[in-house]
Amino acid sequence: MDSVDLIATDQRYLVHPLHHPDDHRQPLVITEGSGCMLRDAQGRAFIDGLSGLWNVAIGHGRGELADAASRQMRKLAFASAYAGGTNEPAVRLAERIVKLGYANSAAVYFTTAGAESNDSAFKFARYFWKIKGKPSKVKIVSRVHGYHGVSLAPMSATGMAAYHKMFGPLDPSFLRVAAPYPYRWGGNQEPGIGAAEAVEQAILAEGADTVAAVIAEPVMGAGGVIVPPATYFPKLREICDRHDVLLIADEVITGFGRTGSWFALGRWKVEPDLVSFAKAVTSGYLPLGGVLVSKRVHGALESAPADQKFMHAATYSGHPVCCAVGLANLDIIEGEGLVERAGTMGARLLEGLEGLRDLPLVGDVRGLGLMCGVELVADRATKAPALGVGGKIARAALAHGLLLRIRAGGADPAIGDTICLAPPLMTPVEVIDRIPEILRTAIQAAS
Ligand SMILES: Cc1ncc(COP(=O)(O)O)c(C=O)c1O
Repeated sequence: MDSVDLIATDQRYLVHPLHHPDDHRQPLVITEGSGCMLRDAQGRAFIDGLSGLWNVAIGHGRGELADAASRQMRKLAFASAYAGGTNEPAVRLAERIVKLGYANSAAVYFTTAGAESNDSAFKFARYFWKIKGKPSKVKIVSRVHGYHGVSLAPMSATGMAAYHKMFGPLDPSFLRVAAPYPYRWGGNQEPGIGAAEAVEQAILAEGADTVAAVIAEPVMGAGGVIVPPATYFPKLREICDRHDVLLIADEVITGFGRTGSWFALGRWKVEPDLVSFAKAVTSGYLPLGGVLVSKRVHGALESAPADQKFMHAATYSGHPVCCAVGLANLDIIEGEGLVERAGTMGARLLEGLEGLRDLPLVGDVRGLGLMCGVELVADRATKAPALGVGGKIARAALAHGLLLRIRAGGADPAIGDTICLAPPLMTPVEVIDRIPEILRTAIQAAS
């Protein structure tokens, strides 16, 4: 089938994530990937500026992962991991992730996606407080601009209105408060402290005896690569401790090296109670995610009476093939020093992007490790968000060989269209240097 037929058949039969027919008139048909490069059905080559969807950390086309999947499928394609059964890849991967995790990490529950990881983390939090004799602690506090996935509970935690509009109402036990967003912080206090105190105010307003957990991405990704000030997470941890509220780190993007450390909150010397992960645990070669559970929460699971067992499950939790691929992926990340590389290449990419600040459309440039954002404004003095220009820039960048993703801006609350960049951790230095050059051309073409 040629690509014209394929697209016609697609338009007839396939419902896409974020579906709208106008967005799908001329879809990109990606046919091959190798390293940080992708090729489409017309033979055009692109830099994969977002590592697929922030997930392909090791780059495309690594045969080691295909071999690991093939070996495991031939040996044992599936076995239930429900209590009373187990399989070796799940056990080995859980042990390895705990050892790579935080000092307080104890055990892993596996899922197959980021949203399912967050759903599970919310249920871990509720479960923990019920075991502790505080069953009214059920609410979850999250932040505006946060993204936690689209199943119902993660959608309610997500702080981006576009994801709510056609699917409301939101679950009323979810509350969204101001983000630590230095570029647009309007409060009197320093933004890290002010945004942490916004969480505290929500906890106090609801009553700490009703709040189970706060969920936060260490660096907000889909919401526009928003990097918090160094003050934010230490203050947030202190607030959570003071009010007996668990801290869930949504590390679906930041986990497994992207920010220059295996998990991101260590940079600020903060240990979360629960960590959601997915994406880079297999570099997207197979679907896998999970919740990394702290000693404190694990203690509650281990000490539960039989009539309060953890009745949470999924057929594919601990899937042996996904876990075998996860192990092979971690071998590559470790063996090739990709975590350190994310730090050095990320600093280099950010420096290159800083050079775009002379362009009138560029309002802010920010990033941590290989996760960078360029926020666009209509007026630099007033920071009036530039809206609608991001799509033009993405098309111009594509024409020059760079595939990227735009966080569409909005007015309430204000954020300009933001160019999101997160290339694979193995991206060669000459490609890293090429990205700001292509962006300059694309932004100028769209201005
Ligand atoms: C921080 C974060 N959490 C959760 C999710 C949801 O993951 P999934 O799409 O695998 O459900 C995403 C997806 O981009 C994410 O970036």
